[in-house]
Amino acid sequence: MHKTIIITGGSQGLGFQAAKLLAKDKQTGIVIANRNKENTSKAVEQIKAETANQNVLGFPLDLGDFNSIKQFVVDFQNLNLPPLFALVNNAGVQYISKTRFTKQGYEQTFGVNHLGHFLLTHLLLSHLSENGKIINTASGVHKPELKTPIPVPVYKTAEKLAYCGADDGQKDAKELRHQGQVRYSTSKLCNVLFTYKLAKKLSKQQGPIQVLAFDPGMMPGTGLANDYPAFIRFVWKNVLPLQTLFGNRINTPKQSAKVLVDWVLNRKTDKTTAYFYVGGEEKSSRESYDKELQDDLWSFSEKQIETWLKNA
Ligand SMILES: NC(=O)c1ccc[n+]([C@@H]2O[C@H](COP(=O)([O-])OP(=O)(O)OC[C@H]3O[C@@H](n4cnc5c(N)ncnc54)[C@H](OP(=O)(O)O)[C@@H]3O)[C@@H](O)[C@H]2O)c1
Repeated sequence: MHKTIIITGGSQGLGFQAAKLLAKDKQTGIVIANRNKENTSKAVEQIKAETANQNVLGFPLDLGDFNSIKQFVVDFQNLNLPPLFALVNNAGVQYISKTRFTKQGYEQTFGVNHLGHFLLTHLLLSHLSENGKIINTASGVHKPELKTPIPVPVYKTAEKLAYCGADDGQKDAKELRHQGQVRYSTSKLCNVLFTYKLAKKLSKQQGPIQVLAFDPGMMPGTGLANDYPAFIRFVWKNVLPLQTLFGNRINTPKQSAKVLVDWVLNRKTDKTTAYFYVGGEEKSSRESYDKELQDDLWSFSEKQIETWLKNA
């Protein structure tokens, strides 16, 4: 084995397809880091069987719990695997039925999609190879100009996103859905803000490590709609996938995974950071380049993890 790649959320959807493609190179060790143990073991066994790569490992990781993230990094270090070539921060959630919180009390969409990955990246930075890569799976829903079915992000401060009150009782199902979708698109904006700020910080180092954000396009059929009502889940799993044949910016997880893996394995740009879609490099939203938002998100997130690490 020459190198190691970690992918979060590799048990299903985009992450699973990407892990399977990456595992085709038997000299690469793949670490699938995932919340659900059963899903993880199933994915690992399936990938091993289909690729004959025996260096596919599954590790428990709950991005909604700082303790679990720290334990994951300890477990990873103890294995003494070959150099970490890429960290693919791919796991993502969307909740539209009620507000949920992480173990440390942050709103779960922000907590898992952004803050958990922020801590994970922070703890793994020293393990990344000099020419390594960090790829964050973002989404086109963060771009208002794409007019996706998901409402546009609302970013005031990171603190407001992290500590929103749970006044769900005052809201009907339509309002709860809107609230959950806005949290989701905003968390995807956070993925891009984080990408640019981290790249800037790392650009002063040797190498430097590339930090990229990826929009896989809409990928109907994945587990992302699991919190939606049964009828919508049915359409998401059985009807919308047909749109991949005709739809604009609608792809199968396999199609998007191919592009993601191409960017993981090849140096597609010499820049230290980029935002890319299935069709190639693109501009992200105007808001994502806003230095004040990048700084606000960074300083809030840094403060949370530093305080927690001091007491852990
Ligand atoms: N589907 C789309 O249309 C679409 C469009 C644009 C961007 N994206 C992005 O693509 C990425 C992958 O989504 P997907 O559509 O492939 O969804 P998916 O099928 O639901 O996969 C999500 C993965 O994240 C894992 N996960 C969820 N919560 C976690 C936690 N707390 N800790 C660790 N792992 C956790 C899940 O693991 P379990 O098995 O444990 O549940 C699963 O493996 C996400 O970042 C999403 O925002 C999706």
